[in-house]
Amino acid sequence: MTSENDVVQSARRQLLIGGTWRDAAGGATLPVEDPSTGRTLTDVASASSDDALDALAAADAAAGAWAAHPPRARGEILRRAFELMTERADDLALLMTLEMGKSLAESRSEVLYAAEFFRWFSEEAVRIAGRWSNEPGGSGRLLTMKQPVGPCLLITPWNFPLAMGTRKIGPAIAAGNTMVVKPAQQTPLSMYALAAILTEAGLPDGVLNVITSSSASRVVGPLVDDPRLRKLSFTGSTEVGRTLMAQASGRLLRLSMELGGNAPFLVFEDADLDAAVDGAVIAKTRNVGQSCVAANRFHVHASIAAQFTERLAARLGKLTVGRGTEPGTDIGPLIDGQQRDTVIELVADATDRGARVAVGGSAGTGPGYFYEPTVLGDVPPGARVLSEEIFGPVAPVATFETESEALAAANQSDFGLVAYVYSTNLKRALRVVEGLQTGMVGLNRGLVSNPAAPFGGVKQSGFGREGGFEGIEEYLSTKYVAVDL
Ligand code: SIN
Repeated sequence: MTSENDVVQSARRQLLIGGTWRDAAGGATLPVEDPSTGRTLTDVASASSDDALDALAAADAAAGAWAAHPPRARGEILRRAFELMTERADDLALLMTLEMGKSLAESRSEVLYAAEFFRWFSEEAVRIAGRWSNEPGGSGRLLTMKQPVGPCLLITPWNFPLAMGTRKIGPAIAAGNTMVVKPAQQTPLSMYALAAILTEAGLPDGVLNVITSSSASRVVGPLVDDPRLRKLSFTGSTEVGRTLMAQASGRLLRLSMELGGNAPFLVFEDADLDAAVDGAVIAKTRNVGQSCVAANRFHVHASIAAQFTERLAARLGKLTVGRGTEPGTDIGPLIDGQQRDTVIELVADATDRGARVAVGGSAGTGPGYFYEPTVLGDVPPGARVLSEEIFGPVAPVATFETESEALAAANQSDFGLVAYVYSTNLKRALRVVEGLQTGMVGLNRGLVSNPAAPFGGVKQSGFGREGGFEGIEEYLSTKYVAVDL
């Protein structure tokens, strides 16, 4: 395997615009930090608004030819990129761990998860279909066709630096769109590595343009206001999503918004407790809890809450916290000091209100932004940790007595991305699943993410779906033709 130094030194650090790797205007750069040490790994180009507009111009110039490119050929480029990512999973994982922090095992599994979106959409590229039907009154025919939506702006977060990219880029390419991608400034290296792979896989110049910037508003504002842009897809916080949506309303852009979550994890008295604890470990610790589908709060039937809390604490207490590159590390650092401070604050609020620390409860002393895997028992209803997105390895356990109480607690949130339900009573499980106000449910499973499934939320968690058959629809427009025979 390549060394840390080699992987960073060989990483792409310039903007990709119209097929050319180039510096930002005036040579501006921004630092990329290793969150496990707090040290700068390297610097990457920091785009100006003119650079951003150049990227959109390149996407616009390439749009016509790319839309006319045969679907099979578009799919084959994605398929080749899937293969290259899979072959290079170890190096991609190391680069990701260095800039994002999660363990090498988790990064590797993200690389494979990310690559699967390319495989899935390589297969969808050839299944874009229209419809031919009779006008009900017999006065002609109704023809519908699907066409690429046009140049897209794809804004991706730092928590899954590759997968949140491939699940936007994959369907955009498959549907025949060109794009400007703006990755989070904390994790630009993985996205540039992905862009290099797509170029090597044969993606024509200008179809994918990548810009990084120390100021998101400097590059996003002018793009959103530009009439050449047709679609904006964003994954990130609800707060930023609302701002982008307001900006995008000026030009009525097509939108996909994958925003915050506050997933409830319900454990009924008839649950298989071993399975529930296994699921809880995955739903809480995947990505160090920094995921919008992380279980945020555990609502457990009062009769089994003590047992569940103790068993979950025993499991989380055994996890090894450390630098993601160290063998044996389970839990890497949080992304930055601000995120660690938020977790510290939420735990302090809960314990001040009477919650009990069953395991963990402390931040590391540094360097790096570590926080121990933590289980809080007897968390009272008003604790902030139950209503705010934690984005850290903290599991608060609250109790309920009845099914309707559990459902009410689960739905008592502005967010509606995912919920987890553990019950062996089929009728109850399906009743609860139907009553949950979320876009996704894990039924006796702690992980819902799958490239073949429609990922997305309701309420303040956003709208639009990524993955599954629905994912490509976000990048297509329907044209209807009234045919007079
Ligand atoms: C997210 O945290 O935004 C998504 C995670 C996933 O796809 O599993």
